[in-house]
Amino acid sequence: MDARLARVQYTAPFATESFADSLAVGLRKSPKEIASKFFYDAEGSRLFDLICELPEYYQTRTETALLQRHAPEIAALMGKDAEIVEFGAGSLRKVRILLDAARPQAYTPLDISGDYLADVVRALATDYPALTVRPLVADFTLPMEIAALPQNPRRAGFFPGSTIGNFRPDAALALLRRMRGALNGGGLLIGIDLVKDPVLLHAAYNDAAGVTARFNKNLLARANREFGADFDLDAFAHYAPYNVNLQRIEMYLVSLKRQTVSFGGAGFSFAQGEALYTEDSHKYTIESFREMAAKAGFAPRAVWTDEDRLFSMHWLESR
Ligand code: AVJ
Repeated sequence: MDARLARVQYTAPFATESFADSLAVGLRKSPKEIASKFFYDAEGSRLFDLICELPEYYQTRTETALLQRHAPEIAALMGKDAEIVEFGAGSLRKVRILLDAARPQAYTPLDISGDYLADVVRALATDYPALTVRPLVADFTLPMEIAALPQNPRRAGFFPGSTIGNFRPDAALALLRRMRGALNGGGLLIGIDLVKDPVLLHAAYNDAAGVTARFNKNLLARANREFGADFDLDAFAHYAPYNVNLQRIEMYLVSLKRQTVSFGGAGFSFAQGEALYTEDSHKYTIESFREMAAKAGFAPRAVWTDEDRLFSMHWLESR
């Protein structure tokens, strides 16, 4: 092993749910559904990184600009020598802005995709030789206990990208409460996508290049790769409308014909036009999100947003 990577501590994986079992259960439901966390195998994580660069997907560049613009203030709130704990860390691109500004002593990225996490951590550790990096392969929707580091630094949570939007309001509230518990009294920096013109929201999930469609269908491709399912990707359509009343994008894979798909020795039939529900992406107003954070036991403090009010970043203190 590279000597520089001796500081990178790998810990045994936390609890995870089996994709094959969850898909089999979800395909027996009416309507059919599967949790969006299963998008993220290594290929799905890469496809999501491509989404982040799309002209229609304003979220990533808006949030990155907010982080850059307010890094000194955020760093002061986090304090020096903290441990930054990132939930659903993905490409590790955004956190670099915080690492440069806040100079934490340790960084604990959690991600569900172990292969992908190992890859991106290798590159990050090379760029930050003084930093203790502790990647945890974890599904943060399940109970998790993040062990204290020897120096027991003050924790600062980082949950960018509006990933909380993938949860229904009750589950989002429960998740915020558990994160507050995991942060041991530390604050949480969280990115929240805002309610806006539905036409802009619709475009962000229905890009002209079809990358979001590929990301959605990767779920089927992943089932084919991992356990020999026989999904015909051309026999399903990507469909992602904005539900104005529930203030969320809903993502579906719609069967274009009557068909039966098999895996694990079982058959699953789709009627023509029947959908598999794959994702929700809830949008908030600044006020509605602050209310939820307060219900979860946080004291909402600073809020940063762009001129067009597309996206927001919130600093929540534990109380
Ligand atoms: C990973 C939650 C930030 O909901 O916008 C992007 C996932 N799905 N395009 C989002 C996603 C379709 C994304 N987050």
